[in-house]
Amino acid sequence: MSHLIRTDDFTSQEVLDVFADASAFRKSHDSSLLKDKIIITLFFENSTRTRSSFEIAASRLGAQTIHLDVAKSSTKKGETLVDTAMNLDAMLPHGIIVRHERSGVPQILSSHVKASILNAGDGAHAHPTQALLDLFTIYEHFDGEIKGKKIAIVGDIKNSRVANSNIELLARMGLDITLVAPIHFLPSTKLKTTTDLKSVIDDVDIIMSLRTQTERHSSQSYASLKDYASDYCITSELVGDRDIIILHPGPVHRNIDIDDELLSDQRCKVLEQVENGVLIRMAVLKKLLK
Ligand code: NCD
Repeated sequence: MSHLIRTDDFTSQEVLDVFADASAFRKSHDSSLLKDKIIITLFFENSTRTRSSFEIAASRLGAQTIHLDVAKSSTKKGETLVDTAMNLDAMLPHGIIVRHERSGVPQILSSHVKASILNAGDGAHAHPTQALLDLFTIYEHFDGEIKGKKIAIVGDIKNSRVANSNIELLARMGLDITLVAPIHFLPSTKLKTTTDLKSVIDDVDIIMSLRTQTERHSSQSYASLKDYASDYCITSELVGDRDIIILHPGPVHRNIDIDDELLSDQRCKVLEQVENGVLIRMAVLKKLLK
């Protein structure tokens, strides 16, 4: 049974195949492609976009999703996570979509169940479908010509599973990455890094802004989000009339990550990413469950 735990579970060719399917799904899809498939969504952490995106993707292809309300499940009565997953698996679902605040949970579950595990975000580790939809948005914008495109990933990179998955995928697919963040938000890396956002602005094609992951900070690491914003907010003044596209996985902290004006600018791809997310998840579900 194949799983999607990390972006490197897919070869570069498989990534391009997923993109081809996602593009085709924009025009039409067979609404019975995944008929008779049952998918469980198991979210131990909040989600607005990812869960609904997976559920809409499944429903467009005719699969049925069952959401386990974790707050009311037996993990709250002391059942281990693996036992919960094995019990759900005994009902023979075809896929289990998991989000958990601890890194590594989807990987562990994948060795105990027969269903395909799809990682919808685990701690600060990985969020593979987010990186796939981010790269797909870039890929479509540049008509497939992504090799050598320069991207600045800006924000709380060290604590971000979105950054982690994008770094693996985008570097492998030939993009030129610079990490831009205050020193305590930078991971140890071989990539180019800078703390100075203005120093890269004339040299990038894409900016990916990330939310400060305050829930993962053990202590407050910036004087205030306002101070952080004055150095790292992507503003329309900063971008000016440059030919740069702006991405963000959401949820956006308005005027801290990206300012209001830029959020409503054509170059800002936030809602396009959400739209593409459904197409990418349809393609991923087809790949893993069909
Ligand atoms: C992200 C997440 O949950 O990892 N959001 C998402 O899935 N679109 C990013 C975040 O929480 O900042």
